[in-house]
Amino acid sequence: MAKDDRGHVTDEALRELGERARQCTACRLAETRTNVVFGDGSPEARVMFVGEGPGRNEDLQGIPFVGAAGQLLNRLLGEIDMRRDDVYIANVVKCRPPGNRDPRPDEIASCKGFLADQIRLIDPDVVVTLGNFATKLLLKQEMGITRLRGHAYPWWNRTIVPTFHPAAALRGGQSVLDKMREDFSLIESVLSDTADIEESEAPEPEQMGLF
Ligand code: URA
Repeated sequence: MAKDDRGHVTDEALRELGERARQCTACRLAETRTNVVFGDGSPEARVMFVGEGPGRNEDLQGIPFVGAAGQLLNRLLGEIDMRRDDVYIANVVKCRPPGNRDPRPDEIASCKGFLADQIRLIDPDVVVTLGNFATKLLLKQEMGITRLRGHAYPWWNRTIVPTFHPAAALRGGQSVLDKMREDFSLIESVLSDTADIEESEAPEPEQMGLF
């Protein structure tokens, strides 16, 4: 199905899903959140980024990746000629873990249905997992991000490109940033390969139980 044909349908369905997320009280994170941080960007994006969970700035504004890590993400996007508006950005958990602690397994389990639905509705060609939590959840891999990054993985008719979380580059300096730049180039090449396949084969996206 061409993205333009169903753009407005996706928009509406995403809005409804976002509304459900904003009402959600399925885990303890609902008690301490200021805002649910559902997602941001184009419903027709070919690239979707998945982070870990909102931090303080995101919790206050209700928008993912608006703090320092978000600035770096925007910069890396710019370097491959993409803007934030071209992509969609979401997180594994939609509410801030207090004090930015790691999300707990039961919180991830309660929340992952929202992410699965976002992926189905947006139907991106490439899902970029930022850091260990998103990568482990989607790829069902115990191996860490340092080993997994640098490669593209076929995943339910799409491609996963795992990379470091931008916060790791802010902490880890130039060598992490250089590796993220390599991974962003990989996103570009997967996108151009996928465009070639779409022109010649145009496979129908399947409805599956993603994770
Ligand atoms: N880190 C994340 O994983 N997600 C955000 O939205 C912000 C920082």
